[in-house]
Amino acid sequence: MLVSARHGSLLGSGWIPVIKYLGSKRVLLPRILELVEGLEGVRTVLDLFSGTARVAHALKRRGHWVQANDHNAYAATLASCYVKADRRRWQSKAERLLAELDALKGRAGWFTETFCVRSRYLQPANGARVDAIRERIAGLGLEPSLEAIALTSLMEAADRVDSTTGVQMAYLKGWSARSHQRLQLRMPELLDGPGGASCLDAAEAAHRFEADLAYLDPPYNQHSYLGNYHVWESLVRWDKPEVYGVAMKRTDVRERGSRFNRKGAFDEALRTVVERLRARWLLASFSNEGFLPPAEVAAILATRGPVTRIVIPYRRYVGARIGIYNPRGEKVGTPGRLHNHEMLFLVRTGDALPSRRRAVRRPGRTVGSGASALAGHPRRQRLGR
Ligand SMILES: C[S@@+](CC[C@H](N)C(=O)[O-])C[C@H]1O[C@@H](n2cnc3c(N)ncnc32)[C@H](O)[C@@H]1O
Repeated sequence: MLVSARHGSLLGSGWIPVIKYLGSKRVLLPRILELVEGLEGVRTVLDLFSGTARVAHALKRRGHWVQANDHNAYAATLASCYVKADRRRWQSKAERLLAELDALKGRAGWFTETFCVRSRYLQPANGARVDAIRERIAGLGLEPSLEAIALTSLMEAADRVDSTTGVQMAYLKGWSARSHQRLQLRMPELLDGPGGASCLDAAEAAHRFEADLAYLDPPYNQHSYLGNYHVWESLVRWDKPEVYGVAMKRTDVRERGSRFNRKGAFDEALRTVVERLRARWLLASFSNEGFLPPAEVAAILATRGPVTRIVIPYRRYVGARIGIYNPRGEKVGTPGRLHNHEMLFLVRTGDALPSRRRAVRRPGRTVGSGASALAGHPRRQRLGR
């Protein structure tokens, strides 16, 4: 039986489910929503580093027109499902599709061999279900929104029965308790109305889209999201890539790095994005454990307008509390500090509120460093039109 994400009953209204994701703003979300609510004239929002799409989904739920962007394909897929897809158009089609996919018999293939035999992400019986469902999705040639809903459901189903410590870098030596359960598809929580999803580098998205508010939640440290969530990337792309190491990471993890994951490049990457954004408000999340001290983050943001800083004590991600594991999933250390500080920076820029009457697109401007990334994208798009 197909169940809803929240209630475990037949499909109904609920909340976006909890998938395990480093830096997810699930806990900070009420503060973020409260802040945005209090701002004047915020109709459209650009979320540049959308990850699970949790923040973007919550803002869409509050009635904002949201564009969710992330440079990884799995995150852009979550954004297509939770932000772009209009529930009124896709709900019943998706329910029928997921019911059909969930009824398929397992059939072991590339996924099972790679992630359940050569490594231990899922138990082989669940791996065979992933193979069968994913091959069927690939064969159906679905419309992109419907495909994103099916892939989101599959990623979340795998996440509920995985055998990891939270990231896909190490699999547990013994199978986790949840991995013995049968992988089961659930209907993601769609919302009424349109939205946007994109899979661009943040610097390019900052140039391409114009919104009332831009939300920035970049990575804080050297750990690549693509490396930590490579299984989802391979599941979504279904390109059956070359893999390496005990975690069976895609080899392109080595090439598709983010400048936000490099200490020496973070400062410049942030400056570029902040400079390019056209939004009346900027809202940025940072941790006190990141590459840049809060005062330096504030100084970069202050190039666009007066900055207000809000500090929130935060219980660290569950992985930090569970302990430290080697690539074979063996515990090798004890957890460090259990708390850090998350910070929200709010900037009121000098940008004028976009006129509702002006054209959707206007000519792009010449850009400085990193201009090659923008080749072929000479125009800026105003959201929600
Ligand atoms: C801290 S997480 C965002 C979490 C998100 N706010 C949530 O609640 O789930 C940072 C995200 O930035 C994305 N990212 C990293 N470098 C990027 C880049 N250069 N351009 C766009 N996205 C990037 C990662 O894939 C990751 O999903």
